[in-house]
Order: sequence, then C-alpha cells, then structure tokens
Amino acid sequence: MQKKTAIITGGGSGFGREVALKLAKKGTNITVVDISRENGEETVRLCKELGCNAIFVQADVSKVEDVKKYVAKTIDSFGKIDLFFNNAGVSGSGVRTIECSVEEFNNIVDVNLNGVFYGLKFVISEMLKTGGGVIVNTASLGGLVGIPTLGAYSATKHAVIGLTKTIAGEYGRENIRINAIAPGTNETPMVKAYPKKAIKQMAEAVPMGRLGQPHEVADVVCFLLSEQSSYIHGAVISIDGGAAAL
Ligand SMILES: NC(=O)c1ccc[n+]([C@@H]2O[C@H](COP(=O)([O-])OP(=O)(O)OC[C@H]3O[C@@H](n4cnc5c(N)ncnc54)[C@H](O)[C@@H]3O)[C@@H](O)[C@H]2O)c1
Repeated sequence: MQKKTAIITGGGSGFGREVALKLAKKGTNITVVDISRENGEETVRLCKELGCNAIFVQADVSKVEDVKKYVAKTIDSFGKIDLFFNNAGVSGSGVRTIECSVEEFNNIVDVNLNGVFYGLKFVISEMLKTGGGVIVNTASLGGLVGIPTLGAYSATKHAVIGLTKTIAGEYGRENIRINAIAPGTNETPMVKAYPKKAIKQMAEAVPMGRLGQPHEVADVVCFLLSEQSSYIHGAVISIDGGAAAL
C-alpha cells in the first residue's frame, strides 16, 4: 500500500485507530476523520510516529458540509483517495425499539446511515476521477440479524449492507471495489463502556466463548483494502467468533 492515500472515519478510536496504525506501518498517507479532536489528533500523532504522512480533520459525518470538508482536505494534502474505511458509527441507549426517542432514532440514522451515504457520495466522486479505489463500510452483526434493544442501530447497519451491495453492482466496472464488514461484539471503547455483567453475558453467547479484539477486525479490513482481496466485491464479511452462524 506504499504511497496510497486512505480516509478513515471514526479514526480516533476503536477499529478506526487500529486500521490507521496498520496502514501507517505500510507507509499509507492517512486522513483521520473524527468528531473528537482529542482522539483524532492522538491517532495522527501515533501514525506519524510510525513514519507516515497523516492529517486530522474534525468532522461530524452526519453533516454534508463536514463530509465535503474531509474529502477536500484529503485532495489538497495528498492529491487523491485510494482507500476509504467508512466506519464512524454510534450504537444507542439500549431500550426496546418503541421506547427509543424520536431524537435518538433520527440521530443514529443521521450518523450510521446518512453519514455512510455522504461519505460514499463524495469519496466515490473523487475516486472516479483517478481511476478507482477500494472501500470498506462498517456494518455489524446487527446488520445481519435483529439486536433486541438496539433497533435503530440494527436497522441502519442492515441499510449499510444494502448500500454496499448496490454500489458494488453500480461501480464495479469503474474499478471501485467495495465490501462491508459485520463485526460481532468487540472490546472497543464503545463496548467497554457497557456494564461488566452485560459484557460477560455477551461473551458467553458467542460460539468461540469470547469477545473480539479490535486488531482482529483491523486485520480483515486491511486485507479487504489490499490487492490480496482483489476479487472480493459486494461481500459482507462476518468477524464475530461464529455469532452469525447461530
Ligand atoms: N465495537 C463493536 O463491538 C462493534 C461491533 C460491530 C460494529 N461496530 C461498528 O464499528 C464502528 C466503529 O466502532 P468502534 O467500536 O470502533 O467504536 P468507538 O466508539 O471506539 O469509535 C467510534 C469513533 O467514531 C467517532 N464518531 C462517532 N460519531 C461520529 C460522527 N458523527 N462523526 C465523526 N466521528 C464520529 C467517535 O468519536 C469514535 O472515535 C461503528 O460503526 C460501530 O457501529 C462496532
């Protein structure tokens, strides 16, 4: 991936940071996008320590103008976009679906679905100008099955899979390769914030008897972004210790 340029949304934490660090080790130019300046700048610092060029763009992926900004700043700094990890997302407060407030439901849709769409819209437009690119969208196990108490989250992640498959059909001939990942529960900061009892129960429900680690997801993302996966297109890759098999 020498001399390629990647944009990573949600790059300040969890899967986004892990992928940034792995790509940094390969010399990739990286734009870290996050709503959190502190976390995003820390990822950039860690990437630069590994010797790559990296910039931070503070952006809320649910705002069209912010998405245009992170795309424009990447083009200004690096000239093109080769790789896009369209990953930023939020979960939800964990109540049954009809108890979810309208505001919370709409916010989850804004970030997890509209934010993913805006990213695809403006990044693919740039990739088409330079001969193509590779995209990984972050869906979830919750994009394959329902997750009681995370209705909005599950709905948006199903939608991310729908967008991924549709765009695969639309742009494959123009050298845009796109896939989605469907991670099960992983020990990222998002999940570590849950009560300990809930974490234990989640681990027991997984066929492998444990939660995933962010680096296990990042390895798959980097594979999907690389030439090694050159004929994988429009796929949804589960990374879940077997959870989707049940
Ligand atoms: N952790 C899991 O078990 C798990 C499982 C399946 C899918 N996912 C998905 O993986 C992705 C990354 O999650 P994670 O577990 O690494 O979480 P995380 O909370 O560690 O990281 C998410 C990052 O996204 C950023 N972010 C949130 N809203 C944003 C917005 N509106 N604009 C820009 N940045 C924003 C946060 O600041 C944070 O840095 C999400 O889409 C999540 O739904 C996570």
